[in-house]
Amino acid sequence: MTAVIDALLNRSSEPRLTAPAPDSETLDKAFACAARAPDHALLRPWRYLVIEGEEALTALGELFASTCDDDAPEKAREKLRQNPLRAPMVIVGITSHQAHPKVPEVEQTMSAAVGMGYLLLALEAAGFGGMWRTGSLAYNPGIAKGLGLADHEMIIGFLYTGSVSSTKPGVPRPDPDEFVRRWPQ
Ligand SMILES: Cc1cc2nc3c(=O)[nH]c(=O)nc-3n(C[C@H](O)[C@H](O)[C@H](O)COP(=O)(O)O)c2cc1C
Repeated sequence: MTAVIDALLNRSSEPRLTAPAPDSETLDKAFACAARAPDHALLRPWRYLVIEGEEALTALGELFASTCDDDAPEKAREKLRQNPLRAPMVIVGITSHQAHPKVPEVEQTMSAAVGMGYLLLALEAAGFGGMWRTGSLAYNPGIAKGLGLADHEMIIGFLYTGSVSSTKPGVPRPDPDEFVRRWPQ
């Protein structure tokens, strides 16, 4: 088996993350991996924001908390405020849709998502942990505005990353026989 196949077969998302965050050399390589995503018409329909360190993550938490209704309980607001502090780095994956006669938006979103997957795998292969999260925050217009997204852009996920503080129990993996068939049979 190749190193890539080993990395894929051994990967798992890890929610329990601590410092240190990925260093800049690792990040550069991981983003270069993200840019290997298949990309119809080479539109490069993606970009990323790196949010690192307490000050920046606290600002992200304030932005998350600002999405609460005025009458929301303080506990709910505080939970959102604390969310980004679950890791030393959060990478926001963004798809930047472009008008193209042959490449609909959905294909551009898929390309960005593949890039996010490659990014996650590269960070994992370099020894870091990661967890791709969305939730309603990813689709909240206030969050998009606060992060400086343009009208043609959409958040595809928040990639929480850092060093694994403790591993989570493994997720059962389906056997390919369960989801692969030949056609016609
Ligand atoms: C687009 C996308 C959004 C996700 N959003 C969340 C989320 O908000 N919260 C969560 O607990 N898991 C979320 N997940 C799932 C985890 O990232 C992870 O894949 C899952 O826990 C299974 O772990 P595994 O990656 O080890 O198979 C999301 C996955 C994807 C692809």
